[in-house]
Amino acid sequence: MKESLAKLAALERLAELGGGEDRLKRQHATGKLTARERMAQLFDPGTFEELDKLVTHRCQDFGMQEQVTPGDGVVTGHGRVDGRQVYAFAQDFTVFGGSLSETNAAKICKVMDLAVRMGAPIVGLNDSGGARIQEGVMSLGGYADIFLRNTLASGVVPQISAIMGPCAGGAVYSPAITDFNIMVKGTSYMFVTGPDVIKTVTHEDVTKEELGGAMTHNEKSGVAHFAVEHDKECLALIRELLGFLPSNNLDEAPRGVTTDPVDREDASLDTLVPESPYQPYDMLDLIHTLVDDGYFLEVHRHYAQNIVVGFARMGGRSVGIVANQPAHLAGTLDIDASVKGARFVRFCDAFNIPLVTLEDVPGFLPGTVQEFGGIIRHGAKLLYAFAEATVPKVTVITRKAYGGAYCVMSSKHIRTDFNYAWPMAEIAVMGPEGAVNILYKRDLEAASDAPARRAEKTAEFRDTFANPFVTASRGFIDEVIHPRKTRRKIIAALDACENKRDRNPPKKHGNIPL
Ligand code: HXC
Repeated sequence: MKESLAKLAALERLAELGGGEDRLKRQHATGKLTARERMAQLFDPGTFEELDKLVTHRCQDFGMQEQVTPGDGVVTGHGRVDGRQVYAFAQDFTVFGGSLSETNAAKICKVMDLAVRMGAPIVGLNDSGGARIQEGVMSLGGYADIFLRNTLASGVVPQISAIMGPCAGGAVYSPAITDFNIMVKGTSYMFVTGPDVIKTVTHEDVTKEELGGAMTHNEKSGVAHFAVEHDKECLALIRELLGFLPSNNLDEAPRGVTTDPVDREDASLDTLVPESPYQPYDMLDLIHTLVDDGYFLEVHRHYAQNIVVGFARMGGRSVGIVANQPAHLAGTLDIDASVKGARFVRFCDAFNIPLVTLEDVPGFLPGTVQEFGGIIRHGAKLLYAFAEATVPKVTVITRKAYGGAYCVMSSKHIRTDFNYAWPMAEIAVMGPEGAVNILYKRDLEAASDAPARRAEKTAEFRDTFANPFVTASRGFIDEVIHPRKTRRKIIAALDACENKRDRNPPKKHGNIPL
């Protein structure tokens, strides 16, 4: 007995040492926490239960028999986050650079299977040199096993990836399938092929940071949803994000406690929209005013800023907010904004999170870049996502709702439950200037006083169409509301959706225009 206990203690000590003191020091020297330190910060204190701590690799090649570390380069297990069960794995860069072996992959697959069976979120903390070179196709197979599980778990339990070191080659595809990617500035990077390969193939000179650093993927590619300064912030953010999400697709998100009155009115909203329809305002000001305690967790903050998406609570209920941003590209919908919005809408729909849409959109962004890039196909993604969503949906048109964008942005016609408009809303096929140019083209060409005539016709069009009253008279808007009462209206609408039952026709799956 004594001997067995001593052996267990020795093995556990070895597992905890990972790649050894020197490599642990190196990990700290690069500004990173170790895999176990990360797990300790992710979970509520003292709740992390490790699995497979004594698993070792089976590789016999390249002198690997002499290099055996219990745990084999990945820490896996489960614990509580704000009291709720969560499963996680953390790659240990100190053991073979956190590279993925056959057994290391099997450990990750085990926690993923458990998470899905128990209906709990999966968090992956990535810090790895990719496939373990010594294990060849066994490690590649291990990746494929993980990708399959990521795919099957998608829409069943929330999946969050943190990139906290290297994540290269095929390793990027697990995070890519998951719902949210968080990257740590300065220490993380993701790319399919690194700078050396790029130099050989395309002769481009690019650094790791430029190619796949946190801001590259937050601002340019949209692969990452959040950028954080350091590991600590990353782990705190994962905890916070989980707080807005249900544990699985059959659950509701936890209800928050707030002292913020549901009927709180804000007079400043009556003057938020400028007199001139061409003048921008910041949609974030509206969001912060509407939500509980002014708190909004923006997702994809640095990417496609013409649309804003993120989580908040309204009356304690977790909601997903999708809002056009007039302060950026006048709030037009382009390819990136459409894809960003669509993915967020589909996430919320998969996980029973009601959607609140705040609309001020002059239309889709014109131009050859957009048309050649496939704005038709990408714009259709957002339309498809809103149309197929069966969660409670509430829309408020604050100003412009023009053209196809009116239909797309969670209009009544695509099953939105409650649609409101502010009195200054403009809802029409196109803006007054564009409409007058088409309708009165010949008239204006012939007119001796063209500018005056154009101004007269534009004013006439604005009076007739660019208001919410025609739409309200048709019932496409349920009510024209006072801006200051918007919070109360949205919360009342969400209450009215409390027992909503809606479903799509039975099918294997739809064919969203990818
Ligand atoms: C085995 C690896 C390894 C790997 C790193 N190590 N990557 N061991 N397999 N893939 C080991 C190193 O030998 C070293 O061991 C330790 O980890 C730390 O690595 P360093 O190079 O000293 O660290 P650093 O300078 O920080 O560089 C990190 C790195 C680099 C950029 C990740 O190690 C690297 O380029 N590794 C290879 C990356 C790669 O090409 N992976 C395969 C991608 S293809 P010691 O003993 O010295 O501490 C792929 C296919 C997946 O993943 C396909 C799925 C579809």
